[in-house]
Amino acid sequence: MRNLPDEFASPLAQLQKRRPNLPLRLEWHDEVTSTMDVAAEAMRRGDPHGLVVLADHQTAGRGRLGRQWSSPAGAGLYFTILMRRSLPLVTIAAGVGVRGGILAATGLAADLKWPNDVVVGGRKLAGILAEADDYGPLSTAAIVGVGINVKAVPMPPDVDARATSLERELGLAVDRGVLLAAVLERLYDRLASVYVGLSDDILQAWRAAAPSATGSRVEWDTLAGVRTGITDGIDDDGALRVKTAAGVERIVSGELRWA
Ligand code: BTN
Repeated sequence: MRNLPDEFASPLAQLQKRRPNLPLRLEWHDEVTSTMDVAAEAMRRGDPHGLVVLADHQTAGRGRLGRQWSSPAGAGLYFTILMRRSLPLVTIAAGVGVRGGILAATGLAADLKWPNDVVVGGRKLAGILAEADDYGPLSTAAIVGVGINVKAVPMPPDVDARATSLERELGLAVDRGVLLAAVLERLYDRLASVYVGLSDDILQAWRAAAPSATGSRVEWDTLAGVRTGITDGIDDDGALRVKTAAGVERIVSGELRWA
């Protein structure tokens, strides 16, 4: 672990001054396997709620469903927040917070895509990964990882077709420190709202920013074969509703293919 580089230190100091009650505590690493691994270790060590593990480079960044998360040095924001109280809407709240931070820092109004992708023109700009197990039998803790593609770096062709970056979308350089401060501010606020029971606000904000959650054709695999349907919004617990020939299905996790 090293001191926070100036790029981040100054915008975060300004944020702390403006919002003294935010529990800003950051741990910076030049290189890690994954900030999820480091945060999980911090969780087991007893580190406090709200700790943010931030890295410049991940050698084994991971995404949902066992996928890899490409994390070249200096090209994105890669961090994980440690949360000692986890609630069902945490990833929905995190999506709203990350989108709001990106909007505030850059003016780019991205879409949310269930369960918690941040997309622009159908390409993924940022992703959120929540892991909640393995911290002890009575634990209600979670670690929430956020990856935002900032720089327009060369990517493998299959990733390039599905992913984008802030600099690619905006055509200008983005200050990672300003972006991090804006995202953390909204993220802490949205997560705090879930804790005090303001879920309606979060759900409303998520729904307003997620056009594909209604009226999109999706399919998914089951043991009985491929199922298809049309998205019909999210329930108040964050489950995606899908209208199928057999009625409405509630999808709570797993892989969906979007047509
Ligand atoms: C996804 O959309 O599949 C989730 C991607 C989450 C990526 C972030 S980057 C910081 C943290 N560390 C990881 O290894 N993954 C998350």
